[in-house]
Amino acid sequence: MAQDNELFKKLVSHCKEYGFIFPSSEIYDGLSAVYDYGQYGVELKNNIKQYWWRSMVQYHENIVGIDAAILMHPKVWKASGHVDAFNDPLIDNKDSKIRYKADQLVEDYINKLYEKAEKEVEKAKKRFGDNFDEKLFRDTNEKVKKYIDEAKIITDKLVKLLEENNLAGLKKLIEELKIVCPVSGTCNWTDVRQFNLMFSTQLGSTAEDAMTIYLRPETAQGIYVNYLNILKTSRQKLPFGIAQIGKAFRNEIVARQFIFRMREFEQMEMQYFVKPGTEKEWFEYWKEQRMQWHLSLGIPKEKYRWHEHEKLAHYANAAVDIEYDFPFGFKELEGIHSRTDYDLKRHQEFSGKKMLYFDPDIQDSYIPYVVETSIGLDRTILAVLSHAFTEDTLSDGTTRVVLKIPDFLAPIKVAILPLVKKDGMNDYALNIFNDLKKYYLCQYDEKDSIGRRYRRQDAIGTPYCITVDGQTLEDNTVTIRERDSMLQDRIPVDNIRKYLHDKLNVI
Ligand code: GAP
Repeated sequence: MAQDNELFKKLVSHCKEYGFIFPSSEIYDGLSAVYDYGQYGVELKNNIKQYWWRSMVQYHENIVGIDAAILMHPKVWKASGHVDAFNDPLIDNKDSKIRYKADQLVEDYINKLYEKAEKEVEKAKKRFGDNFDEKLFRDTNEKVKKYIDEAKIITDKLVKLLEENNLAGLKKLIEELKIVCPVSGTCNWTDVRQFNLMFSTQLGSTAEDAMTIYLRPETAQGIYVNYLNILKTSRQKLPFGIAQIGKAFRNEIVARQFIFRMREFEQMEMQYFVKPGTEKEWFEYWKEQRMQWHLSLGIPKEKYRWHEHEKLAHYANAAVDIEYDFPFGFKELEGIHSRTDYDLKRHQEFSGKKMLYFDPDIQDSYIPYVVETSIGLDRTILAVLSHAFTEDTLSDGTTRVVLKIPDFLAPIKVAILPLVKKDGMNDYALNIFNDLKKYYLCQYDEKDSIGRRYRRQDAIGTPYCITVDGQTLEDNTVTIRERDSMLQDRIPVDNIRKYLHDKLNVI
């Protein structure tokens, strides 16, 4: 788990400098944990959304998509349990006045113990070389065993305290472990309090008839409340899924780490309705499917790991996260949850509408179980960008920053560049641009030296640059430069479309 703060800082400023991601309302000094996507960020975002939508809706004949409203009847959130239980335990350090998630402080402490154990293993690996028996070392080394045992004991304590909602016990555990605030360095903590993460607002024109409603904290409930509509209108039989991409809002306590934890973010969620008793099988199926999807983004498997939930949410009978190795360590990217019939049952209870499915195979009705896949779009963007961000040192000693984004996700697919803005090279290049823009999102650029223009395209991840030069005017050929290798081919202008069609991996 490499913590690369330098890389992270560079990435954040790169995203701003090159029009991917800006702080929200920046001219007013920004709004904490809210971000806007710029001209390239929005293209990357749309491409990821489209790729997810295709893999879910287009490639599965039994999954349909919806787009439910963000504002929903307040009873939805009572039924779902969010009004009563969508809380984070928060704690403040009295000296730095900084607020933390109390459980996160303990989890960070536990992670450090695991890291210490890993360091011992790494040291031994170096010491013993080829003769190293890692399993034996892990099973017998006193230091490793001590760190891991301690981590397990604290994890059990934490899970128990959270399950019992024992906030005083949580504070005591933080004090016992002597966990200090990283800023003040002191252990001077307030009591732990529960904090509901939902944003509320008023619906209605007068104070008397105003009703408190919430901005949805997850898109999933929009799917549950439409389950009957889809059942009636889509002629689907179990198992079937409903997918949705949309905004969600959470008043996060700890809102640092750029677009990793935002107060307004996007989720791509799919609820898969299955026959009760088959949910574990489908849970395994979707675990495998979702991991394959992540690997298909061109990111190697070492960058991902599974995290089994120690404390299951109130609605789940199995849950696992896909974690990604962000520059600040492994953190949750996607959750796969077996949600039982909890949500549909609760909506049946609160709305009075029967949520039953008539199963023609057994000639009987029941409430389906649900397996959910829930991925954060912004976190996926952060994963793609942090993997793509590369600083290359070239053979002449100069450096370049290049975003090695897969072609199908790259914001701009082709840049068309006249070598110089004279002798008709610009008009020639514009003609190529006007033809290609019908097929790909292209960019025409005639400003600055050709070298600087290549660098600008590298920095936004454009896979191909076409250059019109003096020779083009003589023999109607152009050069095409590939982003990662920087190799150039010279080809006839008439072959550009075929060349790009063969080379560009777009969907
Ligand atoms: N419907 C289930 C659900 O919402 P979750 O684990 O709370 O589960 C799912 O959220 C995914 O949404 C997470 O894995 C993460 O990628 C993303 N997510 C959650 N909170 C987020 C936040 N504050 N900012 C950005 N992404 C977030």
